[in-house]
Amino acid sequence: MSSPSPSDPTSEANIRGVQTTSFRRSGSGDDLRRSVRLFRSFLTEQTDPVGFYSLIAEDAVTLISRHTGLDGLRVVDFGGGPGFYSEAFARHGAVSVVVDADRSEITSHRRHPLSVQALAEQSPIADGSMDLVFSSNLLEHVPDLAAVADQMARKVRPGGYVVLSYTAWLGPWGGHETSPWHYLGGHRAARRYERKHGHPPKNRFGESMYAASVAEGMRWARSTPGLELVEARPRYLPPWSRFLLRIPLLRELLSWNLWLVLRRL
Ligand SMILES: C[S@@+](CC[C@H](N)C(=O)[O-])C[C@H]1O[C@@H](n2cnc3c(N)ncnc32)[C@H](O)[C@@H]1O
Repeated sequence: MSSPSPSDPTSEANIRGVQTTSFRRSGSGDDLRRSVRLFRSFLTEQTDPVGFYSLIAEDAVTLISRHTGLDGLRVVDFGGGPGFYSEAFARHGAVSVVVDADRSEITSHRRHPLSVQALAEQSPIADGSMDLVFSSNLLEHVPDLAAVADQMARKVRPGGYVVLSYTAWLGPWGGHETSPWHYLGGHRAARRYERKHGHPPKNRFGESMYAASVAEGMRWARSTPGLELVEARPRYLPPWSRFLLRIPLLRELLSWNLWLVLRRL
């Protein structure tokens, strides 16, 4: 394995002004195997939720640890629900607190994370108090992605990292359990789901699930004062898929999930 130079335009996320960091590149075979493993695990979310969430949480921590060591860090995990990510952070020596709006999400799976029940946009966490602000799959559940991202990011100290990841509406899983019918419209997909299952979907379009776009996240990441964009990529795909983020419609359709790493200046 080589450690590519940040000046090598082929080495990292060289996406329209995105700052790059130097980290070890895994082999393309490893990257492909990782993606296959992640996508296969999605099929087991219902039958083996603990295995599934533990795997994607550990994978997320691996992606983060390419930018910063985690030992001793104070982490806030917005929308962290049952705490699988907090457990993964703890395995790497960090102390993590979950901030989640829904108590029943926090207590599901009975894992008892250190937690606060609060909205991400109104949390009692002090500004500038965290080494790492993390949020996975929360931003597609709020009506104003940029406003909530702002509120989460202000909790990080100067030099600390903000890692945000969310599901793109126009991606194959954009409608969550109503997919792929969301391509015909979110409300229509919800009606179809209810007809088929006899109850409404957990994620209700326009109420608890919104049409989050990759463009919106990229715009926020590039334009927010005081934050430097360090990495942007489709989360579950191999690193070479970063080129997708340059192509307007394709990035919405194929990225699945946007992964953003930023540093507070
Ligand atoms: C799809 S789950 C994601 C759980 C976990 N982070 C993951 O990636 O698997 C979304 C979580 O965000 C929480 N949530 C949604 N909107 C929120 C908000 N405005 N503030 C805090 N938590 C919120 C929900 O209660 C839920 O636990």
